[in-house]
Amino acid sequence: MSPPPPPPQCGWRLLGFSLFLGSFCFVLESAELGNNATDALNILLIIVDDLRPSLGCYGDKLVRSPNIDQLASHSILFQNAFAQQAVCAPSRVSFLTGRRPDTTRLYDFNSYWRVHSGNFSTIPQYFKENGYMTMSVGKVFHPGISSNHSDDSPYSWSFPPYHPSTEKYENTKEFQKLYPLENITLAPDPQVPDGLPPVAYNPWMDIREREDVQALNISVPYGPIPVDFQRKIRQSYFASVSYLDTQVGHLLSALDDLHLANNTIIAFTSDHGWALGEHGEWAKYSNFDVTTHVPLMFYVPGKTAPLPGVGEKLFPYQDPFDPTSELMDPGRHIVDLVELVSLFATLAGLAGLQVPPQCPIPSFHVKLCREGQNLQKHFQLHDLEEDPHFLGNPRESIAYSQYPRPSDSPQWNSDKPSLKDIKIMGYSIRTIDYRYTVWVGFNPAEFLANFSDIHAGELYFVDSDPLQDHNVYNDSQHGGLTHSLKP
Ligand SMILES: *[C@@H]1O[C@H](CO)[C@@H](O)[C@H](O)[C@H]1NC(C)=O
Ligand SMILES: *[C@@H]1O[C@H](CO)[C@@H](O)[C@H](O)[C@H]1NC(C)=O
Ligand SMILES: *[C@@H]1O[C@H](CO)[C@@H](O)[C@H](O)[C@H]1NC(C)=O
Ligand SMILES: *[C@@H]1O[C@H](CO)[C@@H](O)[C@H](O)[C@H]1NC(C)=O
Ligand SMILES: *[C@@H]1O[C@H](CO)[C@@H](O)[C@H](O)[C@H]1NC(C)=O
Ligand SMILES: *[C@@H]1O[C@H](CO)[C@@H](O)[C@H](O)[C@H]1NC(C)=O
Repeated sequence: MSPPPPPPQCGWRLLGFSLFLGSFCFVLESAELGNNATDALNILLIIVDDLRPSLGCYGDKLVRSPNIDQLASHSILFQNAFAQQAVCAPSRVSFLTGRRPDTTRLYDFNSYWRVHSGNFSTIPQYFKENGYMTMSVGKVFHPGISSNHSDDSPYSWSFPPYHPSTEKYENTKEFQKLYPLENITLAPDPQVPDGLPPVAYNPWMDIREREDVQALNISVPYGPIPVDFQRKIRQSYFASVSYLDTQVGHLLSALDDLHLANNTIIAFTSDHGWALGEHGEWAKYSNFDVTTHVPLMFYVPGKTAPLPGVGEKLFPYQDPFDPTSELMDPGRHIVDLVELVSLFATLAGLAGLQVPPQCPIPSFHVKLCREGQNLQKHFQLHDLEEDPHFLGNPRESIAYSQYPRPSDSPQWNSDKPSLKDIKIMGYSIRTIDYRYTVWVGFNPAEFLANFSDIHAGELYFVDSDPLQDHNVYNDSQHGGLTHSLKP
């Protein structure tokens, strides 16, 4: 038997860091005594890096994620939640400030919003200013200049952010045993789709830079990865998810042991999705569902689940290796399209703080406002009984995402263009029925998109083409759709 490949690391850097190496990231915000937040709820926000919804609670039949499924069983789960840009720093700065990338003006990794676009408040900053103590463990803000090399300290945090070391887990491979290679399927649509405009394709350059991938001599930009290697990548990803799941399990069972499950709101999400061979693509860096679709769920004590009785454990640790770990009750699922940028308003609302007002346009000089929605309306269970159609209108909801490109064809920096190199912006909307994207000229000096300079378009219908493999932009009458592209 040949040895398994090394676990994914860096490059797929983020997968490496947060999943396989296990430093998933969270914010613990506990109410400070003796303040107006005395009887407020704690907030535990778990932000997983690079996690697509390959989870039991999202219907994945292969992946073993019993602890996250258990959290889902006590939560409200959003089935159709989307990131605003499928790359770490822009996505995180967007949802942590409650503003879209066109307002944070961060499409790459290279600027700090407080000096680059506006001095916007963040979720943790807002809670801190309302009497909470806020703490960051692992990767909450993206490291580097995009959070001023300080995880936005001191503004966002009451204590210096804590970065536990993860290197010692680098060669931990026991979780691969959960996924024998012969059981790993390939992506159902591993071909680069006919009719895909070249500007839409991300050439996954950072994965190509790995030594083991270089040895495969894969042609740039479309050459496929050999299928055996594809299986190994998928195996490593799923193993990472199960390892991450055990860490969530330990964290939540500690919450139980500290008797905090009855007064802590838990939000669980990821910064963006991850392609594992779909459309012949890997990693993130695109507008497809597979890279923008994220898990999103909220546990609210006494609201999404009954308050635990004295001594009762809501989150007993579940062992993913235990074949008897049962399928969990699925919890409540919401199908409406929602956006990560709504996290700010929703957490504020759930904690009983004043929900920041909707942003004016433009809002660069407004410190505190939000571009997302307060998703709390979905938590009103009694309304559902009184009005069964309350949640029956997903056709009204839209999720916006965007992705920048330096050129019309894939090239070395197509995945991660620096601001100055951006020439095209792909603006994308996802409704319950379709995904519609236009790639338009973009001036990075003025931050101006030119919607009359259309480079390419994509249109995929959810019912007939759920995996987005048949672009019908050119063969349908889609003119009426354009107007809704500007949020
Ligand atoms: C930005 O906002 C923070 C917190 O609200 C404040 O302390 C800081 O002085 C502001 N900076 C500027 C340049 O306005
Ligand atoms: C960013 O960090 C530098 C170095 O610590 C500091 O001097 C500067 O004031 C920070 N920027 C802001 C906007 O706080
Ligand atoms: C692998 O697939 C076989 C055949 O479907 C199944 O019996 C076995 O339980 C699977 N193994 C794992 C670890 O899922
Ligand atoms: C790599 O592939 C190219 C063609 O795609 C071929 O010309 C070249 O010889 C290959 N190199 C190695 C080391 O196999
Ligand atoms: C939570 O549980 C602890 C221990 O059982 C109890 O002391 C506390 O009052 C409970 N808090 C709420 C909000 O129910
Ligand atoms: C809590 O107190 C702070 C400071 O006094 C105030 O700014 C904030 O609005 C208060 N929050 C609530 C929810 O009353």
